[in-house]
Amino acid sequence: MPIKYIPYYPNTVEGQAILDNITRTQRVLRYRENDKVYDRIKRGMPYYEVETLETVGTPPLGVGGLENLVIRGECISACAYLKEQGIKVDLVYIDPPFASGADYAKKVYLRRNPKLAEKIAEAEQQMDMDELKAFEEKMYGDIWQKEDYLNWMYENLMAIKSVMTDTASIFLHIDWHIGHYVKILMDEVFGEDNFKNEIVWKTQTPSGMKALANKLGSTHDTIFWYAKSETFTYQPQFLEVSEQYIKRNYPYEDEKGFYKTAELQEPSEATLNKLKADGLLYTTKNGKIRYKMYAENTEGILLDDFWNDFLALSATAGERVSYSTQKPEMLLDRIMRLSCKNWRNEEKTERTVVADFFGGSGVTAKAASDLKRKFIHVDIGINSIQTVRDRLKEAKANFQILEIKDGVSLFRNPQQTMDKLKMLIPGLLQGLPGISKFWFGAVVHSKDGTIPVYVPNLLNTQEKVLDIPTINTIINQELQNLEINAKKVIVYYIDIDDQKELEKFIRDNNATEIEVELKDLKNLLHDVVIEDIIDSKTTKTAAGYETEINKFISDRLIQKIGEFNQKGNLQSIAKGKKFNPINISEEGLELIELIALDCENSEGQWHSSTEIKIDKLGYVIRDGVKSKDFWDGKIISNKKPLRIKVRNISGDETIKSI
Ligand SMILES: C[S@@+](CC[C@H](N)C(=O)[O-])C[C@H]1O[C@@H](n2cnc3c(N)ncnc32)[C@H](O)[C@@H]1O
Repeated sequence: MPIKYIPYYPNTVEGQAILDNITRTQRVLRYRENDKVYDRIKRGMPYYEVETLETVGTPPLGVGGLENLVIRGECISACAYLKEQGIKVDLVYIDPPFASGADYAKKVYLRRNPKLAEKIAEAEQQMDMDELKAFEEKMYGDIWQKEDYLNWMYENLMAIKSVMTDTASIFLHIDWHIGHYVKILMDEVFGEDNFKNEIVWKTQTPSGMKALANKLGSTHDTIFWYAKSETFTYQPQFLEVSEQYIKRNYPYEDEKGFYKTAELQEPSEATLNKLKADGLLYTTKNGKIRYKMYAENTEGILLDDFWNDFLALSATAGERVSYSTQKPEMLLDRIMRLSCKNWRNEEKTERTVVADFFGGSGVTAKAASDLKRKFIHVDIGINSIQTVRDRLKEAKANFQILEIKDGVSLFRNPQQTMDKLKMLIPGLLQGLPGISKFWFGAVVHSKDGTIPVYVPNLLNTQEKVLDIPTINTIINQELQNLEINAKKVIVYYIDIDDQKELEKFIRDNNATEIEVELKDLKNLLHDVVIEDIIDSKTTKTAAGYETEINKFISDRLIQKIGEFNQKGNLQSIAKGKKFNPINISEEGLELIELIALDCENSEGQWHSSTEIKIDKLGYVIRDGVKSKDFWDGKIISNKKPLRIKVRNISGDETIKSI
């Protein structure tokens, strides 16, 4: 018996995800206030209408029925679509936001304006990248409350599991910020017994990182590998041996090369004779039999869970496609070779399918296409969809682009939509005293006083559908906790479960005097999207048709550039540094990234009969083939074009009939 009990340190640290709030009843991990997750899982994945936007390449797309897919939409609704279509995947790689606390942005470069003669001369001398005029475009935010992130991730994992074949594997790429919690989710969703490896990928050398004053530098990411069941694919991989490795591990040398020796345990007569005949029998000292193993015969070093033979992509790597979190193709190539066969069946009629539900730059789709697997790329952001489309087109892949109509045409991406909403809700004020963070802000009305406004956080896709659990939180918790004397609150929604039922629920359960007004956010969002204006002229020539762009006006970009210039001017005053504002020419052609003509359809699914993309340096990529030509403001087609599509440098696309 102990002499006495000594108290522990009394408190744990605030701010961590609280694991003692996890209950494992009903096989659902539940963090604090997590009943909503349970309800949503019970309800199912939201299935929306899906529109085919474009087919790139020539259908039918190879053996095995399923087409390669690029899907604009969020992970869970993409999984709902796949499940409904009966599409299953054999390998999943995901590299979701890491809860890294960062906002990711993309540099947007003005292109060379073919209408300005002096600019042509300037461009013909090698252009200096630093001189290129650029501004930034927010792509997505990665700032989360831990528990929100884990709830969100849990639903995503459950959705992904629903579309994995029984023999599939999943690789989840994460890092130190939240990886330790995510592994618990993976155990819960896929089962501890199906855990295969925690792969440590060394992404940087110590010399590649900044010295930190108070802790060690972090130079690796983590990839968790889980299988769906006991029957999964593992194909051992071998790394090439380096000269240094050979010298260290094959210490002897003769006329045939470097070798090491190994002991043979109870060899048969036949083995001994074979070794003797091949000249490999080494010694039989002390009754022990040893034989020679030559370095040149080795299969290589068996790959283990520590990957340090290639690093993260450098800023100037050849495969870079201007996507800040882009991973190397080598990583995906390895994961596929390791865990996914080329064919689903012995008869070789069905290719295996590799899916990435947070596809970003399209590294998984590109590597899958190179390795002859089918691919499914999903991402919520328009920049991702355009980047992967152009990347795959250059790689000569065949695929379809689908858009999930989840009730809202998001403004480029959810991050930018949230920023826009601040300006669009008439009279919205943020940070007013007495209005908690639950509310997006409040509007002050002469008759109704201060009206708190709720807006779903579009970055957290779980909040998208306004349902009874959310309304319940509002009326039974948030209205009671209001520190101001409100007569009314406005609840914006982007998608609604069952409006009549919700209104009845409010009538029956709202114990306060505060009126709850439901408003459709989409009405506001429609006002956000102002189409660009394309002024073009098509003429018949001896060889076909020539379409010339005379003028391109993009109010969205002009506004954005105006904001950028304003910020630059303010900073230059504060820092006493010179700032060169971005000026847009009269014709505005420097705002164009891609022009395409459709000579087949005048409406419906887009068909690119021919297209020109202008890269950062002003060079033209014609139908996916790079050139050293500068764009001359024209696009040529064999057939008469019926429609023209222009993508501006921020990714907004406008289609006009010709
Ligand atoms: C870390 S990046 C992926 C980078 C990618 N592995 C690559 O190599 O380019 C994460 C991506 O997830 C996307 N994303 C964020 N939330 C999403 C959601 N709910 N559904 C689908 N995609 C989402 C973002 O737009 C972003 O492109």
